[in-house]
Amino acid sequence: MSRSERKMDHVKNALSTGQSRQSGLDDVTFVHNTLPGTAVENISLTSEIGGLHLSSPVFINAMTGGGGRNTETINRQLAQLANVFHIPIAVGSQMSAIKDSSEAHTYKVVRQYHPRGLIFANVGSEASVEEARYCVDLLEADALQIHLNVIQELVMPEGDRDFRGALERIEAIVSSVNVPVIVKEVGFGMSRETVSKLYSAGVEIVDIGGYGGTNFAKIENARRDDPMTFFNDWGIPTTVSVIEAASVPGKREILATGGIQTAFDAAKVIALGANAAGMAGRVLYWMQNDGFEQTISHLELVFDELKMIMAATGAGSIKEFQQSPLIISGNTKAWLNERGID
Ligand code: FNR
Repeated sequence: MSRSERKMDHVKNALSTGQSRQSGLDDVTFVHNTLPGTAVENISLTSEIGGLHLSSPVFINAMTGGGGRNTETINRQLAQLANVFHIPIAVGSQMSAIKDSSEAHTYKVVRQYHPRGLIFANVGSEASVEEARYCVDLLEADALQIHLNVIQELVMPEGDRDFRGALERIEAIVSSVNVPVIVKEVGFGMSRETVSKLYSAGVEIVDIGGYGGTNFAKIENARRDDPMTFFNDWGIPTTVSVIEAASVPGKREILATGGIQTAFDAAKVIALGANAAGMAGRVLYWMQNDGFEQTISHLELVFDELKMIMAATGAGSIKEFQQSPLIISGNTKAWLNERGID
């Protein structure tokens, strides 16, 4: 199967396998504030990632690129969407543009349609410093994402089998590129031990990419004759992962992706400590099923509702919202107890 067919297979299978809603977000409850003292019109949604100013704490996370016209069209539409809301957008893995420069245009279209907006370049942890620099330059990117996707690779018949040296390469990239580096998972979550190692390697921003949304084990298993079904339920739920990352000492920035579908989902991960929430599969689903205009309406609603939720809790800013009192119950509480995290 060609790379371009595989990319479109990912899109198709991401849409058909859907999102599992096992992110643990139902275990998070806001403590009601009867005297919030807020006004909706004064709520500020601005946030920060790596010193970059965000007009709202939601971004479109890495999905596609490389592999021809279909992925270029999806990237153009996602870039147009990001441009409407002035929100950041991450491109999909640029490893294919490194291997074949004729594919570069499928990524460049994102800068073309989001000319002054924030764009995150994206490479795998196998990338060299030179390759990472090339990917940033190609898009005049504002930040660089390095994705970690061990389980996806293992389930892919043609995937990597050797994961040595990733942390060392990440460390080299962090110290050599002149944009903030975000290390991200793709839906299996990060433990506090992983986050701690990344911090020690100089990484300032992690996107915990938790379990409970798009499931790359299922997506890749759908392409196998002999599915590794044991990986379908493998991963750290988004809620647990944000809390684990936030429990690591030292002030760093956390992004939370993995099953974010609504303002309420985004609100919960931010209240747990994330600076911003990433959406991938849900935005793709809206685009493919409801069209561009409806997707704008869906996102408008996300931002309007986020302000309502913040107003209800008494938080006027994202910084205040990150300190919200919350009740954690169910499996999330059990997991955190087992792990000795308060
Ligand atoms: C992805 N994701 C992804 N991530 C990455 O770093 N590089 C990539 O190339 C891709 N490709 C990709 C394709 C498609 C079709 C989807 C749906 C997703 C992973 C994505 O950024 C995100 O981490 C996960 O999808 C979890 O978030 P959601 O989908 O549950 O919101």
